[in-house]
Amino acid sequence: MKKLYILLGLVSTGLLYNCSSDSGSPEEEEPIGTVITYNANIKSIITANCYPCHNNPTTNAAPFSMTTFAETVNAVNTRPLRAAINDPINPMPEAGLMSQQNRDLIGKWIDQGLKEK
Ligand code: HEC
Repeated sequence: MKKLYILLGLVSTGLLYNCSSDSGSPEEEEPIGTVITYNANIKSIITANCYPCHNNPTTNAAPFSMTTFAETVNAVNTRPLRAAINDPINPMPEAGLMSQQNRDLIGKWIDQGLKEK
């Protein structure tokens, strides 16, 4: 899985993300106006932070999978995903809120219309 998002990072942004941190989050600041895409920015965040439960098949009683673009878009459209990742009381992931940057990236991705690439 690490290989996959290292590759995605390389291919889509030309930058090598640091994938060694526990949150798995890219640490670069996204410049204002950057187009956020599932392939370039979002898949690696979901893989690192949501797959422990929202894999396919799901584990730990997660109610849906987010292993593909379509499943992730479906989750955004049918679940309170943005609220869940920003909820300090019952956050997703359950262990605690992700970095502000990861949450901002997902928020921007939603605002920009859920682009795949
Ligand atoms: C440790 C396991 C675990 C991880 C990691 C996890 N989830 Fe969940 N998720 C669950 C479970 C269990 C539920 C169902 C119970 C609930 O809604 O709290 C759930 C429910 C949800 C819901 C539905 C909430 C609702 O009110 O309908 C969303 C949206 C969600 N998760 C998004 C995410 C996202 C996005 C990530 C990663 C950033 C993530 N989850 C990581 C276990 C997890």
